[in-house]
Amino acid sequence: MTSGYCKIIELPKIHDTRGDLTFVEGGVHLPFDIRRVYYLYNIPVDSERGGHAHKELEQVVFALSGSFRIQVDDGYQKKIYELRDPRKGLYISRLIWREMTDFSQGAVCMVLASHYYDEADYYRDYGEFLSVARKRPK
Ligand code: TYD
Repeated sequence: MTSGYCKIIELPKIHDTRGDLTFVEGGVHLPFDIRRVYYLYNIPVDSERGGHAHKELEQVVFALSGSFRIQVDDGYQKKIYELRDPRKGLYISRLIWREMTDFSQGAVCMVLASHYYDEADYYRDYGEFLSVARKRPK
């Protein structure tokens, strides 16, 4: 997979005896300005989420609590990331099919997104995604 398509972004951590503090600034720690934040919680451990790609949207996904796996697929290659550190988010560019599984009990997933929600930005059909994704360089 081309390295810029998906990568781990590590955020700063301010540690003292009161606990840890992590912050994120759009356009500074992320390659986009944050337009939307959403989070997944009360997730059954056998849940499968994702199963789509985006035409334009870029995202960074964090496990704020617990852990889960994300398989990313650029149409040529698949790679699995396990997220469990609230400091380390997975950046996912446009045109990446993602599937999220193996949620731990009580996992909380936070997503920072480059655009407002728009159902028209989704590819929910894998065949349709593949035909577009394979037109861009490996
Ligand atoms: P979806 O993106 O398919 O969830 P996941 O990738 O976690 O499986 O979204 C699930 C539903 O929630 C779908 O009906 C669209 C809606 N939704 C919004 O209304 N706004 C949002 O910001 C998001 C992410 C989803």
